Amino acid sequence: MRFTFISSAVALVASTLLLNGAEAQQLCNGYADLCAKTYDQVAYATTHNAFAYTPPGALAANQDNDIPTQLKDGIRAFMLDAYTSPSGATNDIELCHSYCSLLDAGPLSTVLGQFKTFMDQNPNEVITIFWENAGNLTPALFQTVYQAAGMTPYLYTQATGNTTWPTLASMIASKKRLLNFVDGGADASVPWLMEEYNFIFETPWQITKGSEYPCTIDRPKDQERGMYVMNHFISGQVTLGNQTIDVPQSSIAAQTNTADLASHANKCTQTFNKIPNFVAVDFYEQGSLLQTVAQLNGVTWNGKVATPAAGTKSSAAAGTIVGASSVVASLAAAAAVFAL
Ligand SMILES: *[C@@H]1O[C@H](CO)[C@@H](O)[C@H](O)[C@H]1NC(C)=O
Ligand SMILES: *[C@@H]1O[C@H](CO)[C@@H](O)[C@H](O)[C@H]1NC(C)=O
Repeated sequence: MRFTFISSAVALVASTLLLNGAEAQQLCNGYADLCAKTYDQVAYATTHNAFAYTPPGALAANQDNDIPTQLKDGIRAFMLDAYTSPSGATNDIELCHSYCSLLDAGPLSTVLGQFKTFMDQNPNEVITIFWENAGNLTPALFQTVYQAAGMTPYLYTQATGNTTWPTLASMIASKKRLLNFVDGGADASVPWLMEEYNFIFETPWQITKGSEYPCTIDRPKDQERGMYVMNHFISGQVTLGNQTIDVPQSSIAAQTNTADLASHANKCTQTFNKIPNFVAVDFYEQGSLLQTVAQLNGVTWNGKVATPAAGTKSSAAAGTIVGASSVVASLAAAAAVFAL
């Protein structure tokens, strides 16, 4: 009798463990169903100019939240612009928008530290960085900065020409779950800094308000690749002399990132016969980026809501006016530098 009691207690404990085991099923980028998919079969919520966050409302800012908040919210691919350090540091890269005098988001070493903290604490997340190599920096410099930040163990390399990607689960198991693509200047000496257009094409990025959202192959021109970036953000433009700068459109982002986003994604999915892998937006917390990406991935959205913008709308609006004059000042400063 006692024995029976004990064995049934053991059975109960065992079944509880099993139940917990089922509940503790591995998630990959937040969803169990993504684990068995290969890297190129998955859609990733992507922030255009992810670093271009400034205290609310600056004219050239593309995002309202900083990178640690974006990571926490479920953004998994980040577009960054690389410039020479204005401080003259030869072992760092600066994250700037158009000019460092216009928007300087600080050194890459700081931002890589933020990525590392997140990746250390979240071992089931596969992260992608897209580099716009605006400063024509060498792969060796990227290598120096990544190495110093302790990122080396996380770096994934796919051989050029290999169109067979591993599953998210296997990237997670190998711990190599940070992918870096660059739009120019890649070379074989730093293989983890992969030439983007060998693997990925992009739809056009210059979209103005009221124009149709395009599903054409912009970069590399008319050359299809295994994966693609669907650029989905609207720019206004400010011109000073012969300089034109793109101004992100915060005031209409909620609409841009909702029905417009879903219909653009559906249209591109039909056009290319595959889902967009990188769904790139400005002001990601407005609208329904995360829901749209879940839908593309065929999973039920986990209900996680993105963090609201750090600033209030009214201060953002006021900031825009301040920003407008500072842009003019910055451009004048930049023009003065060019004149030298
Ligand atoms: C291509 O990459 C996959 C995934 O990492 C790997 O399993 C495979 O061996 C590679 N193929 C070649 C030809 O290198
Ligand atoms: C823009 O203007 C500057 C100064 O007036 C001039 O040096 C430069 O060549 C111009 N650039 C273009 C692309 O026209």
